Amino acid sequence: MKRIFMDNASTTKVDPEVLNTMLPYFTEYYGNPSSIHAFGREARKAVDTARTNIADLISAKDDEIIFTAGGTESDNLAIKGISYLNKEKRTTKGPHIITSTIEHPGVLETCRHLETQGYQVKYLPVDTDGIIDLMDLRKSISKNTFLITIMFANNEIGTIQPIEEIGKISHEHDIIFHTDAVQAVAKLPIDVKKQHIDLLSLSSHKLHGPKGVGALYIRNGVKVQPIIHGGGHEKGIRSSTLNVPGIVGLGKACDLAEKRMTKDIPYMKTLRDLLIKNTLQIEESYLNGHPKKRLVNNAHFRFTGIEGESLLLGLDEQGIATSTGSACSSQKLQASHVLLAIGLDPVQAHGSLRLSLGRGNTKEEVNYVSKIIPQVVEKLRMMSPLWNR
Ligand SMILES: Cc1ncc(COP(=O)(O)O)c(C=O)c1O
Repeated sequence: MKRIFMDNASTTKVDPEVLNTMLPYFTEYYGNPSSIHAFGREARKAVDTARTNIADLISAKDDEIIFTAGGTESDNLAIKGISYLNKEKRTTKGPHIITSTIEHPGVLETCRHLETQGYQVKYLPVDTDGIIDLMDLRKSISKNTFLITIMFANNEIGTIQPIEEIGKISHEHDIIFHTDAVQAVAKLPIDVKKQHIDLLSLSSHKLHGPKGVGALYIRNGVKVQPIIHGGGHEKGIRSSTLNVPGIVGLGKACDLAEKRMTKDIPYMKTLRDLLIKNTLQIEESYLNGHPKKRLVNNAHFRFTGIEGESLLLGLDEQGIATSTGSACSSQKLQASHVLLAIGLDPVQAHGSLRLSLGRGNTKEEVNYVSKIIPQVVEKLRMMSPLWNR
């Protein structure tokens, strides 16, 4: 059976070029980049190249990139790192941190943890497309707000936030602006200076790099307190021996993304639009998320009368890999917090399915998937007590 991967928002295939670039750093150039001998210098050189590649992709400077073990760690470092430096604000009236209700758990759970430490957090609601209201943001700011953290694009419904405007508002009020751009990097152009971003989280495995490595962009001049203490690596902000092969892979993935983006973005958008057009032919099927302001690779649907999990399993039987939400929450039975936040009721939320494309998907695959989805939907509806046609 042909297997089709349409779950690229959960992770992506490591690009063969990325893998080939990484391999010598396991067996040949395995030095510790902190060592001053030749082995160490080779490793250091490779890490520096990766840093440049990442910085270039988001229009940052090399010395503004800190390596981490992934998007979740970058989120934690950004949010805790800023909050710990503003500890005294805990005794003042907040909100100290402003975020949104549809953030990834890497942000949401970090904010909830900080609430237990005395920080006050405002969770901004979103509209039915998943976009925050800028007036609402302005009104929520207090003189004690020190951090705004709003994701660039949502991992479930693909909605893109007005990042540049949020950045501008943050800076008008001298507030640090962090964005979780894990899903956005390589899917749209990012310019941290133009978009007024102070901190940006990214993760390698979402852009055809290896898992377990990521980076945090920290604008020069912005101070972040470390959350991992040790040997003082990464300017003392993130101790631990650098994961050289992983970092080399992330760097190569960013280099490839930068070179390919002008081709890959319109390519994925065409496939996405075809998938959406075909799928919405199904009776009582709906698109979740903003119709236009959405990631080029994201198609998120709901179907009346059926359960997303059953649809996912039905498609899996046909060799098609999809998701009902974020990979992190898909083993929980609760309805997605994102879908509830855009106003769906729990039954509608449970009837949702995410298909996320990658640059390796083809038009033939989209056409095949578009043929199979209606068959599985029909089969499930025939058995569904919620579908009484
Ligand atoms: C928006 C967003 N933020 C953070 C993460 C976490 O990244 P990582 O898996 O590298 O920890 C993900 C992963 O799904 C994500 O989609």
